[in-house]
Amino acid sequence: MSEAEPPPEARARVWRTPAGVALCAETDLADPGARSLVLQIGEAFFHGFLVRRDGAVAGWVDRCPHAGHPLALELDRYLTPDGSLILCGWHGAVFEPLTGLCVGGPCAGGRLTPWPVEVRDGMVRTA
Ligand code: FES
Repeated sequence: MSEAEPPPEARARVWRTPAGVALCAETDLADPGARSLVLQIGEAFFHGFLVRRDGAVAGWVDRCPHAGHPLALELDRYLTPDGSLILCGWHGAVFEPLTGLCVGGPCAGGRLTPWPVEVRDGMVRTA
């Protein structure tokens, strides 16, 4: 009998990543645009997303400060239709893309948890 994979909700989560992990080319991100990434670190998983806006790239842990859900209800759909804000699809919290400050909704004044990233030689990496 083979061992079954645990369901995703039963997997251990981690909230930080080691530095220097190549994530994607900067040009893989639209401007404005966003992208989900999941990194396996040992037996655990990190869930984050990248946002590009006005030529700058920021990384955020994919966990809403309101109720702790991942923000996007559809893959990579983190931004409002005009690309100006990050939107949590659960209860409508909106965040500034590059500061993570919640500027509306049920956690106004709160912040997303930063995921340190940097762009070097056209590549987005963990920092
Ligand atoms: S979980 Fe994000 S607004 Fe409620």
